[in-house]
Amino acid sequence: MNFELQSLSLSQAASLAADALILLWPDNAVVAKASQTTADPLSHWVHEALAAKDLEEGAGQCLPAHRLSGVKARRVVLVRTGDGSAPQVRKAVAAAMALLKGSAVKTLAVCAGAAAGASVAAAVQSVADASYSYTTTKSKGKPRSLQKVVLAVQDKAAVKSAFDRACATVAGVELAKEWANRPGNHATPTHLAKAAQQLAKRPRISTEVLGPREVAKLGMGAFLAVAKGSEEPLRFIVMKYQGAPKSSAPIVLVGKGITFDTGGISLKPAAEMDEMKFDMGGAASVLGTFAALAELQPAINVVGIIPSCENMPDGRATKPGDVVTSMSGQTIEILNTDAEGRLSLCDALTYAERFKPHAVIDIATLTGACVIALGGVRAGLFSSRDELAQQLQEAGDAALDPCWRMPLDDDYAEGLKSNFADMGNVGGRQAGAVTAAKFLQKFVNDMPWAHLDIAGVAWKSGAAKGSTGRPVPLLVQYLLDEAARRAVKAPAPVSGKRVVAKRKGTSA
Ligand code: BES
Ligand code: MN
Ligand code: ZN
Repeated sequence: MNFELQSLSLSQAASLAADALILLWPDNAVVAKASQTTADPLSHWVHEALAAKDLEEGAGQCLPAHRLSGVKARRVVLVRTGDGSAPQVRKAVAAAMALLKGSAVKTLAVCAGAAAGASVAAAVQSVADASYSYTTTKSKGKPRSLQKVVLAVQDKAAVKSAFDRACATVAGVELAKEWANRPGNHATPTHLAKAAQQLAKRPRISTEVLGPREVAKLGMGAFLAVAKGSEEPLRFIVMKYQGAPKSSAPIVLVGKGITFDTGGISLKPAAEMDEMKFDMGGAASVLGTFAALAELQPAINVVGIIPSCENMPDGRATKPGDVVTSMSGQTIEILNTDAEGRLSLCDALTYAERFKPHAVIDIATLTGACVIALGGVRAGLFSSRDELAQQLQEAGDAALDPCWRMPLDDDYAEGLKSNFADMGNVGGRQAGAVTAAKFLQKFVNDMPWAHLDIAGVAWKSGAAKGSTGRPVPLLVQYLLDEAARRAVKAPAPVSGKRVVAKRKGTSA
């Protein structure tokens, strides 16, 4: 699917060769007088419709039309965007896209008028979301019919950077959806490693893949313990995006990459166990973020680490009560083999220290408790650093991919105490999302660290079962914001000209 940004008025949009037009209309938009609009069929129609009160106020209210005279596109949907804010535009576009569903629209124009950059970005992402179609493992899968989307705006230059960011984010979200949606037998650790190696063909990206022997040599006893029950060999994937000088400290992203989580010997119940193919949603979001980085080329260094394996029961599998030694040297009593994510992540966090990161952020479908606490709306955010927490929370809000900060009081770590090792891997039923975070925190030493528990937001259950591609939008936003912050901090060039962060046209 190809997005194009054009400066176009409504009268110009009327002669666009598109199958459908979506007209975004804020509640408070002024309608030109009929006398002034007789020459412009779209404005005229909108004026008549609004004057006749045929369209209620409120984001998502739609009025469809077919073969309007003077309009080239066969179908037109006029849709209210409420206050015109990004969340309301997203809702409006989703409603309009639902009306167009089933009509095999190949070319679509979205007329956004004077909408702000963030709202244009929301429109782009909403069109992509609504038209996404998974086909990989269907014999007669229907690929998306939509080929081309024109974003018609008043002033192209004003929203260009937000538009570019949205297009790159869409590419990242769709890569993440693809990998998270693939079944476990089509998305093994080896497959994920190959996907990471494919990304290394893009500019500024390189990928290194370690196997079981190298991982054993590094002493990753916790990660190895998770992989032990599986016939599929583990992969430890390290990706690098270099957009800044080598001396610039990277942001390290660590993505949980359990390609299937049966629970191991602490076997999960059968109902909905299939959904545990999404247990590599964190890894998928790292792959997607790298795809977006390759398009946007921000001036920042990013390392992506994906410890990937299956969690299976087997004669050789790790047993409850087994004690293993992590790469950090700390020993862990594995009381529940279903708390495997933290075991794979803790060794990856120790590995991350070698990059002397500016910040390390792990992204994991870590706990069912987080789903209970926050549902599918906000991801759980844990961080011992206020500044990093605030930056991530703001990035999530701006990208419409929000998270919510959760506590990390030391009292929550009480339950992790063990009589037979330095710690246990579970801490009782209460506050399960927090005890999981406290476990991870034992492995970060003094690195600035944040943990995103995406168990609730990475996928949808029910009829619309599938990956959401979250939190790629949050991560891309954060990395771009971070690159911009560094550009501001950089010393002024000798010429005396001030270095100004690129802010124009980005989110509000
Ligand atoms: N992958 C699961 C967490 C999960 C559960 C994600 C539901 C999405 C939906 C994780 O490995 C797990 O099994 N966690 C256990 C931890 C428990 C044993 C302490 C859980 O949440 O039940
Ligand atoms: Mn588990
Ligand atoms: Zn898991």
